[in-house]
Amino acid sequence: MKKTNSIFFALGSVAILTLFLPSGCSKAKAPPPLPEVICTSTISFSQQVAPMIEENCSGCHGSGAGTSPVLSNYTEISENADKIIHALRGTPQLMPEGGPALADSLIQQFQCWLQQGKMNN
Ligand code: HEC
Repeated sequence: MKKTNSIFFALGSVAILTLFLPSGCSKAKAPPPLPEVICTSTISFSQQVAPMIEENCSGCHGSGAGTSPVLSNYTEISENADKIIHALRGTPQLMPEGGPALADSLIQQFQCWLQQGKMNN
């Protein structure tokens, strides 16, 4: 009887481990899905996205400011767009660093630019 119990205990431990391990791993990898944003107008990179980055991020992420990723032109901003939208929403770390988060309208504007194909317009 005692032996049977320990077999069940061993099986139970394996089952519990397999339940917890995969979720632990996938948590570290995938950022949470972005909330859906309905975009009603075309976002302009030069009129809206670049000024938002310039105003809120360039103090640390401008060229020569010393923080990676450098976000000082279209190529750098578009290549890092996925990271930027998650950082604006707090993953893995809220940007601008130390907060407060940008206004929702600005975050949604950036996400719309992303959804519209990161146009250089
Ligand atoms: C006060 C300085 C400061 C400001 C302002 C700031 N950042 Fe950052 N940012 C940092 C630092 C420092 C890190 C590196 C954090 C780390 O590696 O732990 C970072 C990291 C990042 C990363 C990389 C995150 C990742 O996924 O690896 C992105 C993207 C980013 N910032 C975007 C922005 C955006 C967009 C803005 C403006 C809305 C902004 N940051 C404003 C200091 C700043």
